[in-house]
Amino acid sequence: LPVASFDCVVFGATGDLTMRKLLPALYHRFRDRQFPATSRIIGAARTALDGEGYRRMAEEALRRHVPAASLDAAALQDFLGLVHYRQVDGLGEEGWPALVSLLEERPEQVRPFYLATSPDLYGPICRRLAGFGALGPLSRVVLEKPIGRDLATAREINQAVGEVLPEAQIFRIDHYLGKETVQNLMALRFANPIFERLWHADMIDHVQITVAEEVGVGGRGGYYDRAGALRDMVQNHILQLLCLLAMESPISLDADAVRDEKVKVLRALRPIAPHEAHLFTVRGQYTAGAIAGQPVPGYRADLGLETPSLTESFVALKAQVNSWRWAGVPFYLRTGKRMPRKMSEIILEFRTPPFSIFPREAVGMQPNRLLIRLQPEEGMRLEMMTKEPGPGGLHLRPTGLDISFEKTFGQRYPDAYERLLMDVVRGNATLFMRRDEVETAWQWIEPILQGWEERPEAPRPYAAGSWGPSAAIAMIERDGRTWYESLD
Ligand code: BG6
Repeated sequence: LPVASFDCVVFGATGDLTMRKLLPALYHRFRDRQFPATSRIIGAARTALDGEGYRRMAEEALRRHVPAASLDAAALQDFLGLVHYRQVDGLGEEGWPALVSLLEERPEQVRPFYLATSPDLYGPICRRLAGFGALGPLSRVVLEKPIGRDLATAREINQAVGEVLPEAQIFRIDHYLGKETVQNLMALRFANPIFERLWHADMIDHVQITVAEEVGVGGRGGYYDRAGALRDMVQNHILQLLCLLAMESPISLDADAVRDEKVKVLRALRPIAPHEAHLFTVRGQYTAGAIAGQPVPGYRADLGLETPSLTESFVALKAQVNSWRWAGVPFYLRTGKRMPRKMSEIILEFRTPPFSIFPREAVGMQPNRLLIRLQPEEGMRLEMMTKEPGPGGLHLRPTGLDISFEKTFGQRYPDAYERLLMDVVRGNATLFMRRDEVETAWQWIEPILQGWEERPEAPRPYAAGSWGPSAAIAMIERDGRTWYESLD
């Protein structure tokens, strides 16, 4: 459905996120005629550039990051015609009047301000927007993660932004919520009662969430080395996935109805106290290795660090949700850089039969598993035991009921940002994090960070191209379970 005409101001307009994700997402939505050509995309950054210079930069980025099949020459030129630039100093006074007068030309437009900058600028930029009179009922502020680096800094940011705009106009992005397959979790759970009836500690033995990445942290070491995998991936993306899996049915798809249920899951997470952090978490850092046959350097060399770093590029955790539905069901979470391949997957492993009528020789008995592949090769598989064909007796073998979303729907999967940016214009916050969600997630993460600080051991090494340190395997094996990779 088409959205209203808008003026989208992107702070951090020359940065990596804008070039790689935001401009391509806006281009795709424009090419599909989802927004009117009266809209404008206004880049704002400290770099001295004029409109022409910025358009050249944008064009180069689009040519690099938009797949050739989607690059339509006429649409690209028309899109670039909507792009403007203003040089603005987020911390100073310069450039603001010029930006504001550009906006004042079109007071009737929806006005998203996308803050693709370092989070320390969120408060100052919002204060200036308010001070220069740029905020009104049609304005929305979009905040990229990370919202802070701990609970106190998250609160400061939320406070500063909350002083200039009501919560309904604040959109905290977690781009995982915009991924098609993540939204599909809601369809899977709440449109298919056959699963929902099984979605319970009585039936489910445990849950695994793996978000593995092939990439290292090369280009963004400055940020990453201060963040680490727990802050970068778990506090937001992975906890959001856990919420969608574990929440009760919301009473509707309204933003607050969904977020009320998610926040209940976050509140129900069993706290991991600092002194227990080493029991429930494993930190790792990659060393030199190989991925797909290509040698890759270790973390320290990747970042060009002179001294060793204690930052984790991998983390595995055992989480528990204290609720009737989930009591006693562990959620094993892991994420890391430089793993064998990019793969995000959720696995629900069901309980085994209470007793087996099959003789031991029937071999191959495996629990039922529901695999939800978020990326790549988006799809689902239900693993079941079947009889191997043949006259030689009853031998069991796991086979899968498989759905590939790509094959089923045969269409391009839009990037998460496409959906989310249009939702911002529509004013629909269902797929965005509410203030209390972000803060409750930090509340759970913070004692773990504190525990790590109190026992500053080096993260365990793992060779690039492996599934993480052996301690992560030991953590789950102590419970008599194993990590499962569906494509292996
Ligand atoms: C970002 C993290 O939020 O998500 C990155 O900061 C990570 O470190 C990225 O690489 C992963 O996103 P995706 O969509 O590629 O799974």
